[in-house]
Amino acid sequence: MPDPLIDALERTLAARESAGLGRHRRTVASAAGPRAVVDGRELLAFASNDYLGLAGDPALADAAARAARRWGVGATASHLVCGHFEAHEALERELADWVRPCDGARAVTFSSGYLANLAIVSALAGRGTDVFADRLNHACLNDGALLARARLVRYAHRDPGALAARLRASKAPRKLIATDAVFSMDGDVAPLPELLALAEAHDARLVVDDAHGFGVLGGGRGTLAAFALASPRIVLMGTLGKAAGVAGAFVAAHPAVVETIVQTARPYLFTTAAPPMLAETLRASLARVRADGWRRERLARLVARFRAGAASLPWRLGASDTPIQPLIVGAPTAATRLSQALERRGILVPAIRPPTVPEGTSRLRVSLSAAHVGDDVDRLLAALAGVAREGP
Ligand SMILES: Cc1ncc(COP(=O)(O)O)c(C=O)c1O
Repeated sequence: MPDPLIDALERTLAARESAGLGRHRRTVASAAGPRAVVDGRELLAFASNDYLGLAGDPALADAAARAARRWGVGATASHLVCGHFEAHEALERELADWVRPCDGARAVTFSSGYLANLAIVSALAGRGTDVFADRLNHACLNDGALLARARLVRYAHRDPGALAARLRASKAPRKLIATDAVFSMDGDVAPLPELLALAEAHDARLVVDDAHGFGVLGGGRGTLAAFALASPRIVLMGTLGKAAGVAGAFVAAHPAVVETIVQTARPYLFTTAAPPMLAETLRASLARVRADGWRRERLARLVARFRAGAASLPWRLGASDTPIQPLIVGAPTAATRLSQALERRGILVPAIRPPTVPEGTSRLRVSLSAAHVGDDVDRLLAALAGVAREGP
């Protein structure tokens, strides 16, 4: 029996594959860490967002086991029904105290950053709101504007002048400026002081997605702290599955903003709470984020070592001081071939292609972790130099 929908789906999938845009999941058979066993083979991985090396930390695994015995394994319901446990409450207090985007800030946690961004934008925006978004923002901030039925106005990457022109042209009664703090595929940092000044001048709110800065920049407090910025205009989102090594996310902001999210945001109301055992594990991880300055120091040394060595490679190295180090290759097929050539040499670096990055900027996204050692970076640089010499 012919099935036109299945036929159409299969044709589209085949076309994606031949354009070099097919995506393939790898099944990892080892514990979290830079040595990943994939298809029975150990690869040295520069692919995770585990910047501080906490995801595979044995002390945190013990904390998780204790937390599971204390709280059980599931939250059983959404936060507003009966899924909000003391562990969530304590984590929210500790996070608000650590990141402090404004005096008296409160925090609320989510089971993912994707949901947190949807919740922020859909709670604060609606029809008639203009959401101004950096062109290279992570997709979920844009999806929040779609969910809110707000108008999405994109501005050139890290360009306050372009944003100012769009703000001046806007007649919307409510305005949100939404930006990644550290851009996820480029590793560069948003001009947050200029964006906050524009938010003040145009009576807008500034939504800062610090998925890749929390735990890493500003002594671990994040990108706002790196710029010494705080304001009741700021709504901060941070994720807890990257540098914090576990899972989930938080929003920290003025208590009225947080309470509005709790009362009205559909991505908060209509989903089961993350297990309290994860919230308790995150409290242990946050203690490491706060105390283990050595992890950030090691990471900074690894970043400097990689950049020094990569300067002589034939691919353009993005301007980034963060653990996200992109090597821009160009065509999707070229990025995939390079990634495969590294894999044959025992190294895992993902190729990132459209629509995750703009056309013509397919790349290798090298990400570094405090769980790497200097020799790991040297192995990666030697493998890249070998591919440059011999071709993929
Ligand atoms: C900038 C940015 N924001 C939000 C997210 C979503 O966070 P999560 O993976 O916790 O859903 C990610 C990555 O996944 C991200 O890179």
